[in-house]
Amino acid sequence: MAGRYPFPAVPDGWFGVAGSDDVAVRQVMPVHLLDTELVLFRDDSGVARVFDAYCPHLGAHLGVGGTVCGDGLTCPFHGWRLAGDGSVAEVPKVARPPKVGTRAWDVCEANGRVFVWHHAGGLGPRYDVTPYRTDGESWTPWRVDTYRVRVHVQELTENIIDRAHFVVVHDMVEPDVDRFDVRFEDHSMVVDQHVKVTAVVEGGVEVKTRTTTCGPGIVAVEVKDGELDMLTYITQTPVDDEFTDITICFSMRALDDEVVTASISELNAKTTNLQFAQDIAIWENKIYREKPILTQADGPVAEYRRWFRQFYSGWT
Ligand code: FES
Ligand SMILES: [Fe+2]
Repeated sequence: MAGRYPFPAVPDGWFGVAGSDDVAVRQVMPVHLLDTELVLFRDDSGVARVFDAYCPHLGAHLGVGGTVCGDGLTCPFHGWRLAGDGSVAEVPKVARPPKVGTRAWDVCEANGRVFVWHHAGGLGPRYDVTPYRTDGESWTPWRVDTYRVRVHVQELTENIIDRAHFVVVHDMVEPDVDRFDVRFEDHSMVVDQHVKVTAVVEGGVEVKTRTTTCGPGIVAVEVKDGELDMLTYITQTPVDDEFTDITICFSMRALDDEVVTASISELNAKTTNLQFAQDIAIWENKIYREKPILTQADGPVAEYRRWFRQFYSGWT
């Protein structure tokens, strides 16, 4: 994809690297994301950690055969032991180990996912991952669907405010209430709107939605209507300069009737995944127009792009 986009492949922000359930205590796994070879593990006390993958000694991949030791890892090649901050804590048969190490990433665990903080200039986190499902109510277990798509994360969230494509790509019809409010607040974009979806039910179902982004890597879509409280939680993580991994997680506040809860979950998952799939062919084959011809039928594309610029500290 050389030259497909003028901006860096990996913006600054929190990015999902795995589901919390994917990495058990003492489990170690290689992860290739953010254009970087990483090792993800859960230490003896249950804390998820991410290091740059290659051992500072002779370069073995710590995610392939490395084992958890305390809060860190033991390398599979010559047994060097790295502490939780990535520094070399012990070298077999050597009294004073060299003062070297591998990079330990800032990690946070929220909403059933493990996130790492990426910053082109090496600065620490400047915002938190917003927690959801914190009301003490009983929520259905996350239903998770994953995709790998040839598209940049900036294009994915531009789709949220690209209102001219809703009717053309997503079989939506004009809602009865014409509401489309977009606010840009620091690292978040908040979109309140009514949408009428015909993909699953003929004649359409109109719902009020709030879409909130948390940096460039996280999108939450909330639908609240009377008893109904549904959350679609999306993480989007650059793999390299070509592909992005997208995880669509769905959960809803459990209703009294289990059967109704299950059927609403199913309907929502079907709609969300269908709508997502409808965008893929456009995303994978389009080019990025730096100066698009915009009309009043379009959403605030130019404003969105100016707002997104804050996530490119490494782009001059
Ligand atoms: S390469 Fe890791 S201990 Fe030698
Ligand atoms: Fe779309």
